[in-house]
Amino acid sequence: MATIELAGLRIRPTGAGLAADVDGVDLRALTDGEFGALRRALHDHLVLRFRGYSIDDVEFQHLAGRFGELYASPGYTRSRAVYNPAAPMVTIVSNVVEDGAPIGEHGDGELLWHTDLGFEEVPSALTFLLAREVPATGGNTSFANMYKALDSLAPATRERIARLKSKHQASHSSYGAKRPGFRDIETDDPRELPGPIHPLVRTHPETGRKALYLGRRFGGYVPGLPLAKSEALLDELWAAVDRPEHVWTQQWQVGDLVIWDNRCTMHRRDPFTGQGRRRMHRLMTKGERPV
Ligand code: OGA
Ligand code: MN
Repeated sequence: MATIELAGLRIRPTGAGLAADVDGVDLRALTDGEFGALRRALHDHLVLRFRGYSIDDVEFQHLAGRFGELYASPGYTRSRAVYNPAAPMVTIVSNVVEDGAPIGEHGDGELLWHTDLGFEEVPSALTFLLAREVPATGGNTSFANMYKALDSLAPATRERIARLKSKHQASHSSYGAKRPGFRDIETDDPRELPGPIHPLVRTHPETGRKALYLGRRFGGYVPGLPLAKSEALLDELWAAVDRPEHVWTQQWQVGDLVIWDNRCTMHRRDPFTGQGRRRMHRLMTKGERPV
């Protein structure tokens, strides 16, 4: 796909199911015109990558804050409250352990397909991940285009799910472990697991486009359906997520900043056990109740 110029920004689509590289802009001093172009690029490409930049945490927090109200993960998912007092909203995703305690979330295992904070009533809108340290191999992050996932479904299925909802279970994390606060839960019956109920098809509040909206596969449930029918429907919907033509995979380099929109994408991460240190700085903006 050709490079597009917008308000001086160079936007190079990856040619995959989503995502574009952006350069030609000073991330420390975005003009209103450039910021508008960035928002538009995010609406068009769903995931943006900035490579070859170097911004500090304060600049990072300032940049992300232009896109919306910043919102840190709920306390129970964080290992440390504040990593950098100068940029208190920045949280850490890392396998690094210091003084016997992890400096951030998520360890070194696989993260299964998910959206950020989908297990809350009001999930996050955008996530910003800035690579500070990366291992030589492993830890790639893949993204799926959920507009395309919806469009690829059989018309009868699209019609069927237009009014259905699903549970985004809250008790287990993206690596399958029980979250603090949910340790007493013993059932793995999707009907019993706690979590918010969100529409299966959501309308993006800014683009007006409809996207398939799924929680994690484990513990997902479509209320109103017998369990077997819910499982069959969710399996059918999930088969549309990771088709090669819907996906793009980011191989991280130090300094890479990736912004994604949780309202129309899902993401997963490869494991990198034994591959060395990985430290990502993360910010999120507050979203809206999915409708
Ligand atoms: C996240 C996440 C993926 C990664 O921070 O929400 O899913 O590659 N991270 O670490
Ligand atoms: Mn995530």
